[in-house]
Amino acid sequence: MEKIISIIGVCVFFVLVSYGCSSKQTALSEKGGIWAVYERECRKCHRVNGKGSLFGRFIFKIPNFTNTKWQDNVSDSRLIISVANGKKKMPGYKGKLTDEEIVDLVKVCVRSFYPPQGQ
Ligand code: HEC
Repeated sequence: MEKIISIIGVCVFFVLVSYGCSSKQTALSEKGGIWAVYERECRKCHRVNGKGSLFGRFIFKIPNFTNTKWQDNVSDSRLIISVANGKKKMPGYKGKLTDEEIVDLVKVCVRSFYPPQGQ
């Protein structure tokens, strides 16, 4: 009897885990078209959660988009200019993305990390 219960327990565990993973994977694309651009162009450095890779944060000074102080201190126009022209280790996206996409990336994606998600 105990064996059956533990087998059921393991099954439930795997169902929950696989459900949890797949729902996370679709979440980003479900947020709308601009998130597909974020995923394609920005995610590798800034990550899905906007905090930036650990390595990137220490070596390249990637800002943590979920930091309230950082969000409060930067204007939309400054961020749009940074994304368009590039900033130090970040490439510029002018010409590669449309102006609307760059504006949306800042106003929709970058700003969505503020206030901190999941905290
Ligand atoms: C090659 C890695 C890399 C990619 C790809 C990248 N970034 Fe960055 N990003 C950085 C780094 C590094 C910084 C910090 C620049 C600095 O202040 O020295 C940064 C800074 C920023 C900032 C803050 C700029 C400021 O004025 O402080 C924003 C906003 C930003 N990135 C948005 C984006 C968006 C949107 C994309 C996708 C279109 C993107 N990044 C793609 C590396 C990257």
